[in-house]
Amino acid sequence: MMKIKNIGVLTSGGDAPGMNACIRAVTRAAIYEGWKVYGIYRGWEGLITGNIKELTTESVSNTIQRGGTILKTARSDEFRTPEGRAKAMENVKKFAIDALIVIGGNGSLAGAQALASEYDLPVIGLPGTIDNDLYGTDSTIGYDTALNTIMECVDKIRDTATSHDRIFFIEVMGRDAGFLAQNSAIASGAEAAIIPEDNTDIDQLASFIGRGIRKSKNSSIVLVSEKDGGAMHYAERMRKEYPEYNVKVSILGHLQRGGTPTAMDRILASRLGVASIEALKEGQRNVMIGIKNDQIVYVPISRAIKLDKPIDKELRNVLNVLSI
Ligand code: F6P
Repeated sequence: MMKIKNIGVLTSGGDAPGMNACIRAVTRAAIYEGWKVYGIYRGWEGLITGNIKELTTESVSNTIQRGGTILKTARSDEFRTPEGRAKAMENVKKFAIDALIVIGGNGSLAGAQALASEYDLPVIGLPGTIDNDLYGTDSTIGYDTALNTIMECVDKIRDTATSHDRIFFIEVMGRDAGFLAQNSAIASGAEAAIIPEDNTDIDQLASFIGRGIRKSKNSSIVLVSEKDGGAMHYAERMRKEYPEYNVKVSILGHLQRGGTPTAMDRILASRLGVASIEALKEGQRNVMIGIKNDQIVYVPISRAIKLDKPIDKELRNVLNVLSI
């Protein structure tokens, strides 16, 4: 088994609350083993340009509670090319980096997979995205915080929705996955969630909302994943086909990505960070580390990025039953 002396760590793609807690855990756990840690700034782009500095235990002090990422992040088009990855490898060699820890979502781990398949470099992926869309882990770093942020926003919107007897379509992030919309809908007592995993019939939704209003509800909240035109699209259709409804739209946007991480995210990030160093010690490579049923698991990166993580049917049912 190869002896590790130096590792590199980077965050890539959309930032997520808890990434700093994870960088801190990776750094401290590696230093605990006597390894040197290089922070790679601005994601894959920093590996290409050589924006790399050593991290010490002090570099990560006072960061566990901070949102964003102290290593900064970027979405790098150049790294998608073999030439870009070859440039990145020159810096891996220059800094004598023996293994790489990549904290990010689907796109970032796809980059890790591409690099690992072309070069003999052990790579460990850690799931960091508010979208929670990585297969093989129950939760991703940042998801719980984003969920709580959305819930607080929806609670506030409900005050005004109720006062004016309005229907609100609230758009949330999640790109191709409905976890944020689906589970923030449950947490905030919303009437429905429109998610990419389901086909939503607007007439069914309108008659469901109408039934609620006739019964007793004077306002309705529908969470909508940003895909396919998002909230604006559904609100326009509802206004056109049901002009009697007072329909409003609220797009939460990037506020969902910021803020101080919840305890759940800090603990998850700390566990995954420490586990990444344990994995390297065991000789693991090209795996994403996840947590399933409260146990650390290793998932080949190729599976984590390829397989779809399904939305639990039981949770869909909870929303349906409770929103009558
Ligand atoms: O992947 C995280 C995420 O926040 C998605 O939910 C969203 O679609 C995307 O990033 C937005 O990316 P950007 O900040 O680059 O516009």
